[in-house]
Amino acid sequence: MSYITPVIQEKKDNMVKTIELVNGKVLMLDQSRLPIEVRYIECKDYRMVAEGIKKLWIRGAPAIGIAAAMGMALGAQDIDSDNFDDFMKEMEVVFETLLATRPTAVNIRWAVERIKKALHERRDEPVSKLKDFLIKEADAILKEDVEINKAIGRWGARFIKDGDTIITHCNAGSLATGGYGTATGPMRAATEQGKKIQVIADETRPVLQGARLTAWELMEDNIPVTLITDNMAGAIMQKGEIDLAIVGTDRTAANGDVANKIGTYSLAILCKEHGIPFYVAAPISSIDFSIASGKFIPIEERDPNEVTSVFGCRVAPEGVKVRNPAFDVTPAKYVTGIITEKGVFRPEDLHKINKEDMDLKSIMLEPEML
Ligand code: MRU
Repeated sequence: MSYITPVIQEKKDNMVKTIELVNGKVLMLDQSRLPIEVRYIECKDYRMVAEGIKKLWIRGAPAIGIAAAMGMALGAQDIDSDNFDDFMKEMEVVFETLLATRPTAVNIRWAVERIKKALHERRDEPVSKLKDFLIKEADAILKEDVEINKAIGRWGARFIKDGDTIITHCNAGSLATGGYGTATGPMRAATEQGKKIQVIADETRPVLQGARLTAWELMEDNIPVTLITDNMAGAIMQKGEIDLAIVGTDRTAANGDVANKIGTYSLAILCKEHGIPFYVAAPISSIDFSIASGKFIPIEERDPNEVTSVFGCRVAPEGVKVRNPAFDVTPAKYVTGIITEKGVFRPEDLHKINKEDMDLKSIMLEPEML
């Protein structure tokens, strides 16, 4: 593995750079070590990109979709064939390897389907051109993602008032995306509009994405953040210190059930009990219109060591039985609104937003409706 140090933490638009495809290599910020070490890993081939997704060097639904697109671009470069069908046969191995990395987020499948479709549409072009196309397409997916997050930010910021305190879970920020973040999008946009906000970040056991990533990222970007352990959220809500919650999603079903980092469900129930609006920032690429409800979302079970250890330090007895589901499903009834790049919708209206003739304005959730 090759690390790039010292830090090349070049910031664009006041955001940390998560992933980039440069000179035929994928550079990813190693999120498994943040914030102790800030270093980029250079992935030379698609297998290493897949390894990076599995090992959480890169994580967060949109970011792993982008990484997969970049992995496909790298995979294509190593294929020798000039014939489209042979090329696609070898690409199939690349697709399957990337799809097998993490099952819950729909974004890898979304990226694979987008790339496959685009390749088939170009089947008459020389393979060398297809290889160039894949590099450009991966870059386009990255750039589109930032624009989508900015749109999510603009829609979501309408629900944030000056002085609000927002709780979030896990990391659905710049690090989890091409930039700007989904759940952090509205926080950034509200800040840009001059609203003074505070963010409460749940630490997010077992892998601590809230403590290690959200707290780090928001501090880097000068957005006021306070870190709590996951079990403190209820007590802080009880004191009336939280105005709204915004989280991300790995996959949202057509009925508005939301799969997100383990602990999101508990947070949503706490919000309901305390009358706190609970929003999910969801780029449309993370909505799986093909599944009717959250019960069809596959939940990744991860290594028990993530539970028995914290950052490599054992905190539980040897041999203890462990459960480690990485995600949970929050039923739609706990979700106040789903913030997409096309507007904010009630979960029960989500299935309508992809219909061509739908007048989105007629189903949009507006702040004054709450
Ligand atoms: O296991 P992770 O760190 O990949 O889980 C990430 C999350 O649960 C995020 O909230 C989700 O992917 C949305 S990221 C914009």
